[in-house]
Amino acid sequence: MTVREARSEDADAMVRVLAAVAEEGWIATEPPVDTQARARRLRETIEDEGPAALWVLEDGGGVVGSAGVHESRAPGVLSLGMAILARARGSGGGRALLGAALEHARCCGAHKLELEVWPDNARAIALYVSAGFELEGLRRDHCRRRDGSLRSVLIMARML
Ligand SMILES: CC(C)(COP(=O)(O)OP(=O)(O)OC[C@H]1O[C@@H](n2cnc3c(N)ncnc32)[C@H](O)[C@@H]1OP(=O)(O)O)[C@@H](O)C(=O)NCCC(=O)NCCS
Repeated sequence: MTVREARSEDADAMVRVLAAVAEEGWIATEPPVDTQARARRLRETIEDEGPAALWVLEDGGGVVGSAGVHESRAPGVLSLGMAILARARGSGGGRALLGAALEHARCCGAHKLELEVWPDNARAIALYVSAGFELEGLRRDHCRRRDGSLRSVLIMARML
C-alpha cells in the first residue's frame, strides 16, 4: 500500500471511502453523506495552497483510505482526520497516512497536531498512542447524532 498527496481526480473515490466508513459509525460524519457537496469541498481543499492537506492510501486496486489536516481555531494547531476501508485496515496504512500528516504539519510550521476520537475506538487510539499522541481531555456528551443521541469524544494531540 502506498500513500501520496491527493489529486483533484481522487475526490470521488475519497468520498466513497468516507461514506463507507461513516456507515460503520467510526467517524463523526454520519450517513447519508452528501457525496457531491463533499467531493466539491475536497477538490477545493486539494487545489488550495493553504496549510490544509489531503492524502490517499492506495492498494493495487485504487483508493482505499484517506487522511486530511486542516487549521483549527488555534493558530499553529492542525486537526487530523483519517479513514480506511474495512478490508484494507491492519496493514500499516493508518500508520503511513499518519506519518504523512505529521511530516506535513512539521514542514508547515505547526506546533501541534490534534484529533478527536470516539472513546470506544480502541484501534485508532492504539495507533495514535503508539505515534506519540497524548490524551488531552474528554468532551462529555459533545456530539449530537442525527438520532438525537449524544456521544462523548476524546481529544488527543501530539506536540511537534
Ligand atoms: C484507525 C485506522 C485509520 C487505523 O488504520 P489501520 O490501517 O487499521 O492501522 P495500521 O495497520 O496502520 O496499524 C497501526 C497501529 O494501530 C493499532 N492497531 C491496528 N489494528 C488494531 C486492532 N485490531 N486492535 C488494536 N489496535 C490496532 C496498532 O497499534 C498498530 O500498530 P502495529 O501494527 O505496529 O501494532 C483504521 O483502522 C480506520 O480507518 N478505522 C475506521 C475509521 C477511524 O476509526 N478513523 C479514525 C477516527 S479518529
